[in-house]
Amino acid sequence: MTVLIIGGSGFLGTELVRQSAAAGHTTAATFATRPGGTPGVTWHALDLRDSERIEAVVTAVGPRLVVNATSGGSDWAVTAEGSVRLAMAAAKYGCRLVHVSSDAVFSGTRVHYDESCLPDPVTPYGAAKAAAETGIRLVHPDAVVARTSLIIGDRRSVHVRTVHDLANGTRSGVLFTDDIRCPVHVADLAAALLEIAAGDAAGVHHLAGADAVSRHELGTLVARRDGLDASRLPADLRATSVLPGALDVRLDSRATQRKLHTTLRGARQFLALQA
Ligand SMILES: NC(=O)c1ccc[n+]([C@@H]2O[C@H](COP(=O)([O-])OP(=O)(O)OC[C@H]3O[C@@H](n4cnc5c(N)ncnc54)[C@H](OP(=O)(O)O)[C@@H]3O)[C@@H](O)[C@H]2O)c1
Repeated sequence: MTVLIIGGSGFLGTELVRQSAAAGHTTAATFATRPGGTPGVTWHALDLRDSERIEAVVTAVGPRLVVNATSGGSDWAVTAEGSVRLAMAAAKYGCRLVHVSSDAVFSGTRVHYDESCLPDPVTPYGAAKAAAETGIRLVHPDAVVARTSLIIGDRRSVHVRTVHDLANGTRSGVLFTDDIRCPVHVADLAAALLEIAAGDAAGVHHLAGADAVSRHELGTLVARRDGLDASRLPADLRATSVLPGALDVRLDSRATQRKLHTTLRGARQFLALQA
């Protein structure tokens, strides 16, 4: 199978590219600023704001499967419009599409969210991700929209780097004890995405880890795994801060997990290992 990973140079994208190539798929990938280094992979420069370039890359690669692992943050033209443009191209050329979305589409008001819950974002980033989901499902009804949570692995994970910087005193900041998410390991997430892609399921899927942990507990687990002094991690309450965004968002991934061979381990499990 020919696979095209959009945003293959990113943290999740790099693992998707690695696993796709290791599985024997002809793998192509895109980057915005710098190509990745996985051997045997064809790299294409692509900015999702450029619809002609999207079509050019899709026609040049001729993929059976397209996975969108880009992150344009709150930039509407990339995260919302660019993702919908890509879905239009995937639909036009008959490609299966897996789009990676986020728990940021939820406000945290109801804490627990399964696949039947409707997005109610409270940040510009969450709104752009929610808009992308809606547009993609309209223009490509067979697409998979895969929502996930904090992606953890080695120091290429922004969340792991933050813990290292805080523990080493090279950055100021705090880790909230009341800001709860369901972190997932990047290898589990990539494997689950490729497993879903290989089937014919469509629509919204939740692919988060099995444990709900606070940012501070996550930091402590990372610190212990990586031999850092966890007592150096400053703790605070998000509820008393002025930061916008959701407090407690727990993606319930049980319905999706039941359909998968890949296990979406919880943070307490995967951070207890030397992974
Ligand atoms: N990281 C998390 O904890 C987390 C949590 C929930 C959901 N997610 C979702 O998971 C996905 C992957 O996240 P990640 O952390 O792996 O992201 P990342 O490391 O920041 O990678 C982002 C990728 O998008 C590419 N990109 C940036 N701007 C682009 C543009 N204008 N056009 C095309 N490509 C562009 C980047 O290319 P260059 O590197 O070449 O610039 C890179 O390949 C995203 O959809 C994100 O919303 C992530």
